[in-house]
Amino acid sequence: MTNATIPPEKGDYQVGREWREGAPFDWKDIHSNFTWHKTGKVNMAYECVDRHVAEGKGNKTALHYLSDEEENTYTYAELQREVNRWARVLQRHGVKKGDFVFVFLPKHPSCHIAMLAAIKLGAVVGPLFEAFMEEAVKDRINDCEGEYLITDHSFLDRVIREDIPSLKNIFVTDKQGGDYISITKEAEKENPELETVWVDLEDGLNIHYTSGSTGKPKGIIHAHRNMIQQYQTGRWVLDLHESDIYWCTAHPGWVTGTVYGVFAPLLNGVTTVIHGGRFSAEAWYGVLERAGVTVWYSAPTAFRMLKSQPERLHKDYDLSKLRHVLSVGEPLNPEVIHWAYETWSLRIHDTWWMTETGAQLVANLPTRTIKPGSMGRPIPGIKAAVLDDDGKELPSKKTGHLAIQASWPSMMKEVWKNPEKYQTYFPFGGDWYLAGDLAYMDEDGYIFFQGRSDDMINSSGERIGPFEIESKLMEHPAVKESGVIGKPDDVRGEIVKAYIVLNEGYERVEELAQEIRSFVKSGLAAHAAPREIAFIEELPKTQISGKVLRRELKKWESEGVL
Ligand code: PRX
Repeated sequence: MTNATIPPEKGDYQVGREWREGAPFDWKDIHSNFTWHKTGKVNMAYECVDRHVAEGKGNKTALHYLSDEEENTYTYAELQREVNRWARVLQRHGVKKGDFVFVFLPKHPSCHIAMLAAIKLGAVVGPLFEAFMEEAVKDRINDCEGEYLITDHSFLDRVIREDIPSLKNIFVTDKQGGDYISITKEAEKENPELETVWVDLEDGLNIHYTSGSTGKPKGIIHAHRNMIQQYQTGRWVLDLHESDIYWCTAHPGWVTGTVYGVFAPLLNGVTTVIHGGRFSAEAWYGVLERAGVTVWYSAPTAFRMLKSQPERLHKDYDLSKLRHVLSVGEPLNPEVIHWAYETWSLRIHDTWWMTETGAQLVANLPTRTIKPGSMGRPIPGIKAAVLDDDGKELPSKKTGHLAIQASWPSMMKEVWKNPEKYQTYFPFGGDWYLAGDLAYMDEDGYIFFQGRSDDMINSSGERIGPFEIESKLMEHPAVKESGVIGKPDDVRGEIVKAYIVLNEGYERVEELAQEIRSFVKSGLAAHAAPREIAFIEELPKTQISGKVLRRELKKWESEGVL
């Protein structure tokens, strides 16, 4: 049964109406949907908010926030006024075009408002994941010498100001500013109108730090031109219609939460649901029911966790409004697709992309048959191939490097201060962008993910570089050396496992493992802390350079050597 394909439902899909399978498509055809096509004036924030108000949709709900403590909404007109007021405060305190403004806030409308306010001034916004601890915060802001930070008092103990000398101003969203600027309090006094700072399509929009297999996380900078593909995929892949109530479960600190939690839905003028707090089956089903969600974008780990709930729970909620479900970030198991199809009578549409690509590239469009186990096919305007180690195209069903022909509208603008790194995505020269993923393509062009070609770990859809964790582990006095890998896990896809050689005088006891785990957790982030730790005598290493052989550790793991 897991091989059974699932045909499309009959429906009034945007992509079905606007494009026929196999028909030519040019990204330029999309340009006329943006105001800059006529006015020549560009700004993502304007396209997300102001244009809808100018077009008479100011009374429509833009944001619907739900949490255990609070529930509120913003119309597009209210959002516009709030963004303008916040932007005015930022402007008065020095923020201008090209500056880096970091936003370190929970999933909450204030996070959307802060991001849009910075963007409206032409600043480059850097959303930070809400669970980042002090070192993760410090490393990212220091790397690009960020000058401004918008956060909340409850996060301030993770911002060690002395360690981030470039920071000129810290804004807090609490009314009591204390030593900081209360952006909410100052905004109350501001004029709700603001002249947008116009930029070029090529100007910087946002920065996300993402793990590579070596070195510290790299700053990936995207440009305002991203809106072309983000709007279009919102329309054709997420199938957003004006009447939709849309929920993306990711935090904007991850690229999905920024692109498909903030930009794509607002560009399409729909209602965006924001839910505070972490996953719980009851809470999430409750949000789907209470907000009347129609389109839902989440991740395999969440679907797997829902699948593991008692049968009756799925019947306790009214999900009758839900009509389109999508997934991203990690392999989506065929069993989960079949389970969802039986339980909710809905297909889960897998999508594939990366921080660097800025928007979806491969997806199961609502009008196409789903082959469970496949991430789908390249979307219109995108060409993909599977290449061998020499950069030659492989025939169907042969596993190799997943490659996309550059360029596309939302391709990264640059790797911050690291042009050499940008070139490493094109190892064969020419225009084949390599994702670092291994995959094969079948005779119908469906792409099947087979794993990473490097040591990157994917735990619950979160991309984690082993190097950052190994470096942190080395700071612990007991740790002499370490090697970190992803260990396969039924629910999370992979978990972080650390192999550690201890310094003399330390005993291999569970208390020490616990202590090391919390050391990483409090320094970096909970998702980076090794769920499993194995103390060993010696690490496998390359003979010449003495580098830790993570591949060998993975082999040990799969063979159950340890
Ligand atoms: O390995 C692929 C995996 O996530 C990586 C990109 O991670 P990140 O930049 O954090 O972006 C995640 C969300 C856009 C990819 O190189 N990945 C992403 N989508 C899928 C996936 N693996 C399997 N199936 C997917 N649908």
